[in-house]
Amino acid sequence: MGRPGKLENAFTIADLRALAGRRLPKAIFDYIDGAAETETAMRRNTADFAALTFMPRVLVDVSRRDSSVPILGEAAALPLVIAPTGMAALAWPNADLALVRAASAAGVPFTVSTMASTSIEDVRNAAPQARLWFQLYVVKDRAAVRSLIARAAANGCEALVLTVDVPVGGKRLRDLNNGVAVPVRPTPGLAWDILRRPHFCAQVLRHGFPRLRHLALDGKESHAGTASGRLDAALNWTDVGWLRDQWPRRLVLKGVLRPEDAVRAVQSGFDAIVLSNHGGRQLDYAPSGLSMLSAVRSAIGARAEILVDGGVRRGGDIAKALALGATAVMVGRATLYGVAAGGEQGAARALEILASELDRCLALLGCPGARDLDAGFLRGAFGAG
Ligand code: FNR
Repeated sequence: MGRPGKLENAFTIADLRALAGRRLPKAIFDYIDGAAETETAMRRNTADFAALTFMPRVLVDVSRRDSSVPILGEAAALPLVIAPTGMAALAWPNADLALVRAASAAGVPFTVSTMASTSIEDVRNAAPQARLWFQLYVVKDRAAVRSLIARAAANGCEALVLTVDVPVGGKRLRDLNNGVAVPVRPTPGLAWDILRRPHFCAQVLRHGFPRLRHLALDGKESHAGTASGRLDAALNWTDVGWLRDQWPRRLVLKGVLRPEDAVRAVQSGFDAIVLSNHGGRQLDYAPSGLSMLSAVRSAIGARAEILVDGGVRRGGDIAKALALGATAVMVGRATLYGVAAGGEQGAARALEILASELDRCLALLGCPGARDLDAGFLRGAFGAG
């Protein structure tokens, strides 16, 4: 179990990742940490942030700083939204509850996944004041989709996030090699891997193995692989109007990379897009969302909000995304490493690290307000210079 003492000594998201690696069985750590095929897309996500150089301004009064921004029109304490992550409870029992409470306390929205192992109802009960978004995967059975949308509405979700980069599941070699692919291959290696983590075993014995809570299409709760086989690979732009009619609140499209798709999303009534290669877990060699940001912002202007995800590991990464025109970032693994390291306290620690790094970065950049960041603060591959 993650000990608070150790969390206090975690100063970076990399430290939380290391703690998560020590606590989780290798197969579970790899499910979170890994990506598709050669993992090039995932490595580029972090490399593209690193390729940008900051250009600080001096002699600016930075004695008062403000990291808050409006996201989907409402103030958020940080330019950050917790991304949807399926089966998060593999990292910690009821991880979604830990994540939503940490998000609510930090004043940022939390996105519940269609593949969550905690129901939207339980998430809402755990954090009545939280800003909740619901991430939708469209399955072939439209009645099931309508029921998910109704549950999202009934539980006060302010936005529906349609993820469109999973027509089929990515080929994740770590999962295949560890035997966590579907169907699960119970090898002696996998059993040993789990048994040598007694705290993890005790938690599984106490709370049971996590199950999907939203895709109980046939009355049975299914597990991730079966569910991804049910996603509708025929989904296309003509279905979007149907969705827009079903959902009167904010609609977000996640998994966009091309400027022309972003333009079409705006024309189709989406309020925001998430530039994302799904953390490198789907199409290997896809570009990072960050590398597409300037081009997409130029293509759509101010007509929609742009979120970007993939590889955000430092507060400075958030500043870089905002400087290139993003409204906010989404984080997937950063808070998952935190929750895996120490439950709700670990998730809170991850958010605290990102918030304090962003605040320090604003001061050192000579830009006291996150909303005043622009490309002039950057030099590099996708920046101004
Ligand atoms: C994800 N992601 C994801 N996205 C989504 O739309 N629905 C989902 O159910 C999941 N599930 C999921 C599980 C795990 C373990 C990970 C790591 C990621 C992708 C996620 O929302 C986000 O796009 C990436 O995680 C962003 O990259 P970083 O922040 O993890 O580098």
